[in-house]
Amino acid sequence: MEAYEEDGPMVEEEEGEVGPIPVQKLESMGIGAADVKKLVEGGIHTVEALAHASKKELTAIKGLSEAKVDKIQKEAWKLVPMGFTTATVIYEQRGEIIQITTGCKDLDNILEGGLETGSITEIYGEFRTGKTQFAHTLCVTCQLPIDHGGGEGKALYIDTEGTFRPQRLVQIAERFGLNGNDVLDNVAYARAHNTDHQTSLLIAAASMMAESRFALVVVDSATALYRTEFNGRGELSVRQIHLGRFLRSLQRLADEFGVAVVVTNQVVAANLDGGSMFAGPTVKPIGGNIMAHASTTRLFFKKGRAENRVAKIICSPSLPERDATFGISPEGVIDAKD
Ligand SMILES: Nc1ncnc2c1ncn2[C@@H]1O[C@H](COP(=O)(O)OP(=O)(O)OP(=O)(O)O)[C@@H](O)[C@H]1O
Ligand SMILES: [Mg+2]
Repeated sequence: MEAYEEDGPMVEEEEGEVGPIPVQKLESMGIGAADVKKLVEGGIHTVEALAHASKKELTAIKGLSEAKVDKIQKEAWKLVPMGFTTATVIYEQRGEIIQITTGCKDLDNILEGGLETGSITEIYGEFRTGKTQFAHTLCVTCQLPIDHGGGEGKALYIDTEGTFRPQRLVQIAERFGLNGNDVLDNVAYARAHNTDHQTSLLIAAASMMAESRFALVVVDSATALYRTEFNGRGELSVRQIHLGRFLRSLQRLADEFGVAVVVTNQVVAANLDGGSMFAGPTVKPIGGNIMAHASTTRLFFKKGRAENRVAKIICSPSLPERDATFGISPEGVIDAKD
């Protein structure tokens, strides 16, 4: 035991280069420290972000000329694969994708393990269908060890509605055998006050993720501020462009840091005109095509029998459209009660 203590605690970083490469790495490849600093100030923290950015975005960073951008990005492309590869390689890489448990077996089953890391999952549904409770539960389960259905990482929570309740995290932590204080320390929280603020928080998020391992990003809700800030048809296209930019930044966090991104979304009535009178009341998520295309997996939450809720997979590149029933308890999302 003595020897172990002298070695100090085990540090993840010592396992070699897993995860994103910090941009500082470029300094060993002939890129000046001053230019690396400019990248960081412009929100580019990893070589992956640099490799994936468009020239337009990079030249918009203060102090970086087009010639300089060309030179720096060329170095990034040496480290990040940007061309074709075989499906075999992709197959193997996808096998490494971690799934985070939702807290409900039925729901994990239809998701084939749980919430996927490295992509955006959208949860939409009417009020009180459990979207916020679902997000709270994941803030805890993402911290579990990988062999216990977790992602072994911290959570980042952007709250636009003021409905985040840390005491709920403590209750959920107990259920999963985690220490409540540790769980709280591992959740970075910010309240977003307007859509510009909501977008700029992602820059701070990227810099935190470059420092330590995060497994989850929650935006609850992604669209609420857009709804209140932009009015009517006249502002619709500006709204959609802004929302598209926000969602692209989120996708970038998912790609670069391999985090699971969960965004919640509200719904509006869908069949007020022209709909079939037999179809019954239906709803559709806010955000139109921009929202629909940004999320890799879409889940629709609705109320079920008694206190249960039903989650339906609406859109997924690999999962069939299926339903799962779950319950909500003081300990977060649980298996449905009959
Ligand atoms: N401590 C708790 N114990 C049991 N059930 C709870 C608890 N807290 C909340 N709930 C349940 O969760 C529901 C609220 O769910 P939630 O806040 O996640 O809805 P939402 O989909 O985020 O709604 P909105 O669109 O209004 O944000 C409540 O109606 C209640 O049934
Ligand atoms: Mg909510």
